[in-house]
Amino acid sequence: MSKQPYRVAVIGGDDIGPEVTAAAQKVLEATGVAFDFSHFDAGDACLARTGRALPQETLEGALAAQGVLFGAAGASAAQVILRLRAELGTFVNVRPSKAYQGVACLHPRTDLMIMRENTECLYAGIEATLTPDVVTATRLITAQASERIARFAFEHARDHGNQKVTAVHKNNVLIKTDGLFLKMCRQVASEFPGVPYEEALVDSVAMRMVMKPEQFQVMVTTNLFGDILSDLAAGLIGGLGLCPSANLGPKHALFEPVHGSAPDIAGQGKANPTAAILCAAMLLGHLGEDKTAARVEAAVEACLAAGEVTTDLGGQLSTEQAAQAVIARLG
Ligand code: NAD
Ligand code: IPM
Ligand code: MN
Repeated sequence: MSKQPYRVAVIGGDDIGPEVTAAAQKVLEATGVAFDFSHFDAGDACLARTGRALPQETLEGALAAQGVLFGAAGASAAQVILRLRAELGTFVNVRPSKAYQGVACLHPRTDLMIMRENTECLYAGIEATLTPDVVTATRLITAQASERIARFAFEHARDHGNQKVTAVHKNNVLIKTDGLFLKMCRQVASEFPGVPYEEALVDSVAMRMVMKPEQFQVMVTTNLFGDILSDLAAGLIGGLGLCPSANLGPKHALFEPVHGSAPDIAGQGKANPTAAILCAAMLLGHLGEDKTAARVEAAVEACLAAGEVTTDLGGQLSTEQAAQAVIARLG
């Protein structure tokens, strides 16, 4: 008996968002795995049309799916993606950055994974106006969320040959919040004696990533540092068009490129679909279709190595042609 198709919700969003999710969907359709895609609206255009950046129907569609493919939203991105991450209970944002053969980049030996805490820190949305001239933002850190992300990072490191875990913090200034974050990281580290563990200040980590990124394997950090360092990591390997991410929780999973809606290149067929296609590969892995996930990754790697790429990587292909090139190499 054939398997039931996987139910996937696609939320393209704004600008290049729908262009890259369409490319990812085409690649998924070409794998031979059965999918049932449903499309939902969100973002700036949706806000202008309906008064809501994230309509209830979209939220329900995401909650009902076995996996969500998200593109990007524009100015309303925070309203859309932060709410989706929260409502789906995705406590970690997994952001791999790996240098690819054939792609000109600063550091060909980069192969790291940022485990970004996804629910708190300065993203908790606790801001206040004390006086018209004095405003505050509260950095929320809890033992529970810190322990959960640390455990996720250590389990991943253990399951991948005892890779080194680096906890990235700013405990010399953020004494209480990063003090608690590190306390929980250390507590979890003690349960994984086989996994090498280090702690490093975020400013020096930024420098070390630029100078010698091969020092890092699994990086675990709070929400805002993870946001910033993941764009830095994208820069190391050749740009934002290459970096996927997975928002994971106990019940739901949402996959999105690290990049935004890139309004500067929207509508021109120029967007690099690689990040979105690698999101599709991560979705396949999440669904247990590991072999197909590996096939998609191998096809992407072959295209990158052969220069079958979009203009941001020095190639000549359009978004659609780049997706077709991956499909042609799926085998
Ligand atoms: P951005 O990531 O959209 O773009 C930064 C630069 O990288 C631009 O020059 C862009 O052309 C380029 N770029 C990004 N993705 C690319 C791709 N796939 N192929 C080729 N080039 C690519 O960041 P930004 O310009 O700071 O933000 C633009 C908008 O996106 C803002 O409104 C922001 O709020 C939003 N944003 C949304 C998300 C999201 O929805 N998850 C994430 C980040 C930013
Ligand atoms: C990202 C984005 C989002 C974030 C924004 C758009 C809210 O920058 O996914 O990296 O800060 O998490
Ligand atoms: Mn970001």
